[in-house]
Amino acid sequence: MVETTQFFTDKTLFMTGGTGFLGKVLLERILWQLPHIRRIFLLIRPHCAQDVEVAAAMRAERAIFSSPVFNRLRTHHGRRFEGLVHEKVKIVAGDVSCPDLGLPPGQIQALGSAVDVFINAAASVSFHERLDRAVKLYNLSPLNLLYFAKRFNHPTLLQATTAYVREP
Ligand SMILES: NC(=O)c1ccc[n+]([C@@H]2O[C@H](COP(=O)([O-])OP(=O)(O)OC[C@H]3O[C@@H](n4cnc5c(N)ncnc54)[C@H](OP(=O)(O)O)[C@@H]3O)[C@@H](O)[C@H]2O)c1
Repeated sequence: MVETTQFFTDKTLFMTGGTGFLGKVLLERILWQLPHIRRIFLLIRPHCAQDVEVAAAMRAERAIFSSPVFNRLRTHHGRRFEGLVHEKVKIVAGDVSCPDLGLPPGQIQALGSAVDVFINAAASVSFHERLDRAVKLYNLSPLNLLYFAKRFNHPTLLQATTAYVREP
């Protein structure tokens, strides 16, 4: 754990899937166990075409930070919890299945060059997903992230996934 803490000290992360089951727990765990992390950019689909930044920020508040998953941090930091989130987590509106992650051109360079570690937890966990959507999310999205990451600083890319084995 000491090595992990050291590795992440002063690092900037870029994470997808924060509104999901795994991503939410992972985000809480990072904020709890890696307090010396510099910043986390959290990519969230805005689910609304107008004012995408505001829409993504509202989704983060409703779907992530008001979750009981964050109770431990809320209790520990008390009134400083909102400030901690505001300081450490920056919400970015986008879509990992799009080239350049659907980011506005003005954000790409600044954001890409700041990131040390990308964590992709975006997924569709339905076993009945349409094939074209599944390919877009599971094959093309990691590639989008990889191409994006490779343009900047050679950062690390972590892919969350599940190996599913079905009995014959
Ligand atoms: N759940 C587990 O116990 C578990 C355990 C081990 C591994 N895993 C693996 O971890 C990954 C995540 O699983 P999960 O259970 O957290 O899934 P989930 O609850 O369905 O969450 C999926 C997440 O992906 C986001 N997403 C989907 N398409 C996206 C896109 N095009 N651009 C950006 N974000 C997108 C969703 O955002 P929206 O809110 O916008 O839909 C949501 O945040 C999967 O690969 C799964 O196999 C899960």
